[in-house]
Amino acid sequence: MTAGAPIRYADLVLDDRVHDSVYTDPQIFEEEIDRIFHHGWVFVGHEGEVPEPGDYRSRELGRQPVIFARGDDGVVRVLMNRCTHRGAMVCPYERGNSRFFTCAYHGWTFRNSGGLVGVPHPEQYGDSFDRDALGLRPVPRCDSYRGFVFASLSVDVVPLVEHLGPRVLAEMDIAGDLSPGGRLEVTAGVHKFGYGGNWKLQLENSVDGYHITHLHRSYFRIQEERSGRDAMRFATAASPALVHSLGNGHVSWDLSPAGFGGAAIERLRNTPGWPRDYYDLLVSAHGQARADEVLSHGAGHVAIFPNLVIIASQLRMIRPVAVDRTEVFIYPTLLSDVPPEMNEERLRRHESFYGPAGGGATDDLEVFERVTAGLRAKVDPWIRIDRGLGREVVADDGTVSAQITSELSNRAILGHWRRVMSGEASVRLSPRRSTEE
Ligand code: FES
Ligand SMILES: [Fe+2]
Repeated sequence: MTAGAPIRYADLVLDDRVHDSVYTDPQIFEEEIDRIFHHGWVFVGHEGEVPEPGDYRSRELGRQPVIFARGDDGVVRVLMNRCTHRGAMVCPYERGNSRFFTCAYHGWTFRNSGGLVGVPHPEQYGDSFDRDALGLRPVPRCDSYRGFVFASLSVDVVPLVEHLGPRVLAEMDIAGDLSPGGRLEVTAGVHKFGYGGNWKLQLENSVDGYHITHLHRSYFRIQEERSGRDAMRFATAASPALVHSLGNGHVSWDLSPAGFGGAAIERLRNTPGWPRDYYDLLVSAHGQARADEVLSHGAGHVAIFPNLVIIASQLRMIRPVAVDRTEVFIYPTLLSDVPPEMNEERLRRHESFYGPAGGGATDDLEVFERVTAGLRAKVDPWIRIDRGLGREVVADDGTVSAQITSELSNRAILGHWRRVMSGEASVRLSPRRSTEE
């Protein structure tokens, strides 16, 4: 490809394969930052991270710094982290609680809701100085659903609910309704990791059912020895578990056909102590039918294009740093209004696979770097994504489903990526469902 020449995205992602430059070309990465991260909806954080007035987190939308904060008025906002005087970043800290953000340069001070309240030596400014017009700029678009907060640097985006679509909203409803209190708590901290590879490797891998029985074999073998159960059965080629393409590059796993949820309900019902208590609390909060519905859904994996993954006990936020550098922030989630022992068990289970000393997440990191190394071999630049192609089933609502080890997940994510990058389906226009998803 000639440097600076227009990139023909339709030639890089085909129905059955993807060109390796999609993961390695710096020009493509720059265009991704612009078209996807600076013009589309991007996940910023969960309201459960900032439960108290004054709580804030520093975040980035693509390369632009923002503050994700709950004001003293209780409202969660996303503000541009840029002083309205001469542009310095007003909040250099990653997290904290503060009523004010004071710029280090000349001391302009802003409320945690954004308003400018303090200007040192204001007498040099004339009568026309309009303090009210000089608050921290809110991000052009911000919206949330069930506590998941998204923002866009473009005013010209489709409504968030349209970007997410009804199936993703339903998954978020389930994530919330697994708590008797109807909401997730995201106060257990964060586990960060980085790897030398492209951001899409993590997004695709989060819903890659094909790698479980191979890459994570040692972890699941240990689990089997401890529990006596076949821990990998949900991800074999014979498993009835499914992967769904939900439109707009969003993908979910559905383990309920493999009986995971039903088994979980039985275990809860029949185990005295917190399991039975939790089941009873859930039934009294949501009713028997809804309680059984959310529990039988099983441990979900939902990849929400471009940078959020909801997994059974965590949220995962993906941050593209460079074409070959990615950071991932993992937030364990806790359920609200449950017996404390349940959340303790939930955290231990999370750490076992995903924690810094866990047995699974490190497998994925190692292989992302092996993929990046392998892609330096250029005789054949194509990557195959054709497993299960032609075996998909399309439901009336447009959801496309396949056996869990199908590469439908890769095709759905990369198909949407191609449409956004090529302008076929701009994130600014009404999204279309493609039959090839
Ligand atoms: S740049 Fe912030 S007070 Fe001057
Ligand atoms: Fe994995």
